[in-house]
Amino acid sequence: MPDLDDLREGSRYGVGIPVKNEAFYVKGASNLSWGAKDRMTRIFNRKSGRSVMLAFDHGFIMGPTSGLERIDLTVQPLMPYADCLMCSRGILQTSVPADINKPICLRSDAGTTILTNLNDNVVMDVEAAVNMNASAMAIMLSIGDKENEAKTVANLFHLADVAGKFGIPVMGITAVGKDMQRDARYFGLASRICAENGANLVKTYYCENFANVVSACPVPIVIAGGKKLSELQALDMCYKAINDGAAGVDMGRNVFQSENPVAMLKAVSAVVHDGITPQQGFEMFNDLSNK
Ligand code: 5RP
Repeated sequence: MPDLDDLREGSRYGVGIPVKNEAFYVKGASNLSWGAKDRMTRIFNRKSGRSVMLAFDHGFIMGPTSGLERIDLTVQPLMPYADCLMCSRGILQTSVPADINKPICLRSDAGTTILTNLNDNVVMDVEAAVNMNASAMAIMLSIGDKENEAKTVANLFHLADVAGKFGIPVMGITAVGKDMQRDARYFGLASRICAENGANLVKTYYCENFANVVSACPVPIVIAGGKKLSELQALDMCYKAINDGAAGVDMGRNVFQSENPVAMLKAVSAVVHDGITPQQGFEMFNDLSNK
């Protein structure tokens, strides 16, 4: 109960000053709940509107792949320099310090491994994701894959329902099957299908004419890095994707398999947030590596 002795009449009503009613800065998120927007704000930098997500979820289907044998030794030192961490629940609960205070994009599907047929997935309960304080839940869609397409689209559709109730944004990841063309037509179609079925952000691959992919997708797109490239090539890909309208990257191997992962992550971040050129990013990488 406040002290009643000195209750004063209010005088600062600001009559005549219109209430600020600004559009929310994340693409396609204006009509989401307050909780979902708050989580988006944790993922996407308020100033640049972009995000550098560090993906180290590969082990959920690949086991201890190169660079991820020991998360504590190789990935923990990178965490302070990423805007968001993407991993499976097993790695989150065992190998990500709970006081890291970074938003988590939680890998939320499972089912098969690289030893069998990929993508016949099940989806995590949203209560489990709440328990882990996920800022987003990520699942993969196998668009164009006869066997798995319907199941994975249904997974996304269902997850958008249940995660939406808790204000948790959903990331749709476009898997590329062996038979798929890696072109703007395919990635444009797959990304748009993710958004139409409830994804609040999409992770896909960079390709020629990527601006068309981004333009036709009503939610933010972040790019995966894919297989390990030279540092300059990877920075070039980030730069082109950002120039074409991507809202950031969700990269793994091109960071944690680099000769100097911390330097690479800092260089990627400068390309994504500060708009430095690939060449400047590469110089930054070399300077940091030589210190
Ligand atoms: C696969 C994923 C991976 O996290 C993704 O491939 C990112 O890693 P990389 O940059 O190594 O490709 O979501 O479904």
